[in-house]
Amino acid sequence: MSSLIIIDRAGNEHVVDAPSGHSVMEIIRDNGHDELLALCGGSLACATCHVHVDPEFVGSLPPMSDDEEDLLAASDHGNECSRLSCQIPMRDVLAGLKVTIAPED
Ligand code: FES
Repeated sequence: MSSLIIIDRAGNEHVVDAPSGHSVMEIIRDNGHDELLALCGGSLACATCHVHVDPEFVGSLPPMSDDEEDLLAASDHGNECSRLSCQIPMRDVLAGLKVTIAPED
């Protein structure tokens, strides 16, 4: 099974199992990181699942939809590595993916 590296808002690193097919948001929440609110449950309506992806992996992610881009544009903490974690399905090519939970807007 792949692993996912989560950096929480305190800067602590957590290495967790990352089953293929689960979204990065689900994996973060399933591992008890409730600071990632994910209020809309992954239906692309809230942006509270915002993460900063390690630049090494940005090119391996699925393309961003217009809706995801719009939601991230409204964040005060957006950067070129910003993604909504509910829109990233875990796949083998993302093994070892590192994401940092973005500050709350
Ligand atoms: S959980 Fe709401 S947009 Fe990702």
